[in-house]
Amino acid sequence: MSDSRGFAPIQRLLHWLMAACIIAMLFIGVGMVSTVAPTYLPLILIHKTLGVILLVLVVIRLALRRHYGAPPLPADLPRTIKLGARLSHLLLYGFMIIMPLLGLGMLWAAAYPVVLYGGIQIPALLPQSDRVHTLLWNAHVYLGFAFFALVLLHLAAALFHALVRRDGVFGTIALFPLKNRTTPAE
Ligand code: HEM
Ligand code: HEM
Repeated sequence: MSDSRGFAPIQRLLHWLMAACIIAMLFIGVGMVSTVAPTYLPLILIHKTLGVILLVLVVIRLALRRHYGAPPLPADLPRTIKLGARLSHLLLYGFMIIMPLLGLGMLWAAAYPVVLYGGIQIPALLPQSDRVHTLLWNAHVYLGFAFFALVLLHLAAALFHALVRRDGVFGTIALFPLKNRTTPAE
């Protein structure tokens, strides 16, 4: 169970596994659209497959979050910062759900078959529409960059907790116990 000392081990594992995959997705996304080399094809195959896996993982993660909850933030953290932390986490979850859905949606609206690694095909749930395709494509691109910006902000906040405040917040999600860790409730 997650308690005042931290998230449950499975929540920690998923956080870091998904963080690595999402950061890879952002770079693969930008890399593949800026190349005309044949590497475009394997890159897009990885991008689509990993994107769909991430969609499944975020559903599992939200179910675990509901079950285990989250440890409290340090009591001495200003209210506005706590609110900012909650809002940014909510937004991060939102991006994790919406990005793969936009990716799938824009291909469906283009009547482009979504074929994943191993030849797995995902049936289209949207009718063909140029207007919808353009809208979803733009959303996928611009929200992709907004996601990246928020991840950087989140990283900065995490480092602020770990290196400046040293308030134990980083230890709540760390994969391994940290030396001289204090709990956020302290
Ligand atoms: C794509 C990358 C990432 C995403 C999408 C992400 C997402 C999240 C989310 C949604 C939470 C809130 C968990 C909850 O309350 O259920 C969280 C917590 C946390 N993350 Fe990340 N994260 C990412 C990368 C990172 C990185 C690179 C670091 C640090 C180096 C980090 C450090 C933390 C810390 C310290 C917490 C605990 C904060 C707290 O309890 O308030 N994350 N992350
Ligand atoms: C967490 C999930 C995802 C993230 C973070 C993400 C991110 C990105 C980024 C940053 C780009 C580059 C945009 C640009 O610079 O033009 C991109 C492009 C693309 N993504 Fe995703 N994506 C995700 C999931 C998906 C999924 C699930 C699919 C489809 C099944 C998909 C299909 C595409 C396609 C087809 C492009 C290329 C668009 C073009 O050719 O202009 N994405 N993605």
